Amino acid sequence: MKVTVSRKAHFNAAHRLFNNKWSQKKNDIVFGKCNNPNFHGHNYELIVSVTGKINTDTGYVIDMILLKRIIKQEVEDKLDHKNLNLDVKEFESINPTAENICIFIYNKIKPKLDPNLDLEITLYETPRNFVKYSGS
Ligand code: NI
Repeated sequence: MKVTVSRKAHFNAAHRLFNNKWSQKKNDIVFGKCNNPNFHGHNYELIVSVTGKINTDTGYVIDMILLKRIIKQEVEDKLDHKNLNLDVKEFESINPTAENICIFIYNKIKPKLDPNLDLEITLYETPRNFVKYSGS
């Protein structure tokens, strides 16, 4: 019997989407306002979901204090109030789209969890646009 527990988190960050192999014109057509050379920000909302068996000693799938600490260290400390293109080395060569940020977050959190636990990341870039990644 597996149960999913989730914790919400939040961070603010700036980014710019562009492909340096393309002309300014093509970047404008593909990325629109997200190609603003002076960057722009988003209020990202995050849902971290952990699925696994309930530990019979604690009654928990995962101690939420531990999950909160992992999210702070691996997501908030690394991304909150950062310029993703300039401050985060993983985004020097790949576009900081919601898709790629979601994979980044998964890859940071997954190694910190018990290997028997499954992880799913849901990342809202706007209240209406969100992406999910669970490692496959
Ligand atoms: Ni954007």
